[in-house]
Amino acid sequence: MKLLVSGAAGFIGSTFVELRVREHGDDVTVLDALTYAGRQENLREVESDIRFVAGAIEDPDAVADAIGDAEAIVNFAAETHVDRSIADPFAFSVTNGQGTHVLLEAARERGLRYVQVSTDEVYGSIETGSFTETSPLQPSSPYSATKTGADLLVLSYYHTYGLETLVARGSNNYGPRQYPEKLIPLMILNAMAGDHLPVYGDGKNVRNWLYVEDFGRGIGHVLAHGKPGEVYNCGGPDECENIAVVQRILQLTGADDSLIEYVTDRLGHDRRYSLSSEKLAALGWRAQTRFADGLERTVAWYRDNAWWWEPIRSGAYREYYERHYGRSLKS
Ligand code: NAD
Ligand code: DAU
Repeated sequence: MKLLVSGAAGFIGSTFVELRVREHGDDVTVLDALTYAGRQENLREVESDIRFVAGAIEDPDAVADAIGDAEAIVNFAAETHVDRSIADPFAFSVTNGQGTHVLLEAARERGLRYVQVSTDEVYGSIETGSFTETSPLQPSSPYSATKTGADLLVLSYYHTYGLETLVARGSNNYGPRQYPEKLIPLMILNAMAGDHLPVYGDGKNVRNWLYVEDFGRGIGHVLAHGKPGEVYNCGGPDECENIAVVQRILQLTGADDSLIEYVTDRLGHDRRYSLSSEKLAALGWRAQTRFADGLERTVAWYRDNAWWWEPIRSGAYREYYERHYGRSLKS
């Protein structure tokens, strides 16, 4: 299949492209603005098999240049970090809102199938039980609000124009190449360096962990088998309190419990996310990786791939950490 995959220099998109090239022989063009989170190194395993276009999804000329004779668009491009959306929300409206709209127009002009990669955060927080695709949308952060707006726009293109649009909503992903601003890679790298592990609030917020390859295959499933105009949840097999995740990372890295530091809570911090994935399971998708195994693999990957994270830890990421926590990382 000929695909335009936007935002695939990032964590999940690069995994998706690897899977599509290796397992399906797809002909892929990647469009990515290479923000702080996007790195061409993430695509190095498939660089000779794909076409790469540097550009933003909110730029119609860049989209027209990248789209070629694609049969479908899969959109991963987004501003993705909740803490950044609290500190600096406008970039989220532009990429997540306007960018999605520009891609949808390009799909409409050419009659292309369109898959929007979305998140469990659009449903907000749930104390017990799990969200289904018909649960009310109650996003809490500027990140999740802009993702929700994008989902509604995507679905409006099905209802209004009959475009084959679909939405895949994933729970918290983890795995190789995740930018170390997110909980799991941040804690792994800090533990390996002997830096403090900043746990927000009481550490009892719960996330539903999904190994990145499982989400990549879930999105592929929606692309191939999903019904236009429909939403599919894609949740992980295990949930876990943040503090338990951090303690397990300390064990796996051999670091000391005293590195844990409870810090001021995130503003508007959602307590728990949980997705029911029965609708996608009915199409034949199942998550393959349990959290205990996936976390061990992820720690091993960061241990063995310092070439990937060293430039990040020494540069932009360090400045971000200092601004966010008001103190320096130990070097
Ligand atoms: P990421 O931050 O690692 O990567 C985002 C990518 O988008 C980067 O390559 C970046 O350069 C690119 N990008 C940003 N703005 C752009 C723009 N204006 N034009 C073109 N490219 C742009 O993100 P990720 O964690 O891989 O998430 C990918 C998608 O999956 C996002 O849409 C996110 O909302 C969704 N999602 C993420 C998770 C998770 O746990 N990480 C879970 C569910 C859904
Ligand atoms: O649920 C899916 C979402 O998961 C995606 O849509 C987002 O793009 C992705 O960033 C992620 O959002 P979260 O806010 O859940 O992930 P994050 O890794 O930022 O935080 C996970 C939990 O850990 C959350 O409860 C906040 C907490 N946390 C996070 C960081 C970075 C800490 O306690 N300390 C930290 O330093």
